[in-house]
Amino acid sequence: MEIKVAPSILSADFGRLNEDIATVDEYADVIHVDVMDGHFVPNITIGAPVVKWIKSKKPLHAHLMIENPEKYVEDFAKAGVERIVVHVEACADVAGVVAQVKELGVEIGVSLKPGTQIAEIKDILNELDEVLVMTVEPGFGGQSFMEDMVPKIRELRELGFEGDIGVDGGIDGDTCKVCIEAGANVMGAGSYIFKAEDRVVAIESLRG
Ligand code: DX5
Ligand code: ZN
Repeated sequence: MEIKVAPSILSADFGRLNEDIATVDEYADVIHVDVMDGHFVPNITIGAPVVKWIKSKKPLHAHLMIENPEKYVEDFAKAGVERIVVHVEACADVAGVVAQVKELGVEIGVSLKPGTQIAEIKDILNELDEVLVMTVEPGFGGQSFMEDMVPKIRELRELGFEGDIGVDGGIDGDTCKVCIEAGANVMGAGSYIFKAEDRVVAIESLRG
């Protein structure tokens, strides 16, 4: 499977966001936009009114770390994102949210916190464009990769899941390898790319 690199703008300079995105845009496959509400995770970032103004030639994937995502998915669809990723833990009716997002004409992913098992989404796997396996507790950039999340990637492929498997948290030129080997194909990385001396070299080193 082709490896896609998804720079996470959580580690970009929000005061000059479009300029920072421009430094990676040509080399990235996807721009990963972290949306946090201060409830689902103990941090707050940006919402659809800001996402609307992001300039990129690449598809935007909105990783919604928010409660009640069903209230906001339409705003993100209107803001122009290609894919919305919701957390299964944040959905009272995850199948309902998946159907709602598809109805909006947007791709759908579901993300799992480290403590959440694949069993929680087994019944809806066929509906998903992506499963995003968190390899840190969501909320902050710059945390250490949790290698014990790798079996989840393998389990998804063993179940026959053919969509994208993303990993997010602590991904760098070393930790990407075990994820790719297990079957992941979308490398989300924030600090490793945006704090690198050479962002292009960092991006290319994530392709396995
Ligand atoms: C964390 C976010 C990640 C974050 C990863 O909750 O979902 O996308 O930017 O940051 P790094 O790559 O620095 O671990
Ligand atoms: Zn993320």
